[in-house]
Amino acid sequence: MIIAIDGPAASGKGTLARRLASHFGLRHLDTGLTYRAVAAALLANGLPLGDEAIAVDIAHRLDLGHMDRSVLSAHEIGEAASRMAVLPGLREELVRLQRAFAMVPPGAVLDGRDIGTVVCPDAEVKLYITAAPEARARRRTAEILSQGKEADFVSVLEDLKRRDERDQTRAVAPLKQAADAHLLDTTEMDIETAFRAAVDIVTANRAS
Ligand code: CDP
Repeated sequence: MIIAIDGPAASGKGTLARRLASHFGLRHLDTGLTYRAVAAALLANGLPLGDEAIAVDIAHRLDLGHMDRSVLSAHEIGEAASRMAVLPGLREELVRLQRAFAMVPPGAVLDGRDIGTVVCPDAEVKLYITAAPEARARRRTAEILSQGKEADFVSVLEDLKRRDERDQTRAVAPLKQAADAHLLDTTEMDIETAFRAAVDIVTANRAS
């Protein structure tokens, strides 16, 4: 079974994907980390983010089992990842890795921007997780503060909107809800409520 989860930044899709994977006994891949890992390697070596040939080469050698979330969650790495995510050759290479991960039994939960539309268009269940920008900015601000770092709501909100705009308007694999995806708006939901709603959707779709 493959569960495809897409949505904008700080919509809660990552937490939901992790919990769904553990609930249904599936493996989990946060595909955002694959873009972040490539961006981090370029940043660390002072290489230009637009160099597609180098990016593809790094992606080709990427080990999905060794992506350190605590390092890769840094703000500047997310920003660089979002800029690099427009490169078609890089996307092709990462999608290949992501599909290979999804195909291993017993299946997986993948979360990202293009899982239901490009990476796993035949997934058994597709969820599109969203929330109002202000709600997402509140969550992201709290998350950053809880890591002992500084964050200010207004700049986090601006940043999320800029990222949404870039992800939704790029030519290749833009962020959008697949026609057969179930929409889950978590603006008014805490994580427990969102998780139960998602489990209900998956269970209903598996039975049918
Ligand atoms: O949660 P947040 O938006 O901070 O970051 P992420 O999910 O780790 O993704 C970082 C960036 O990678 C996004 O802004 C997207 O531009 C890109 N990405 C993508 O293009 N396709 C994916 N399947 C996953 C991430």
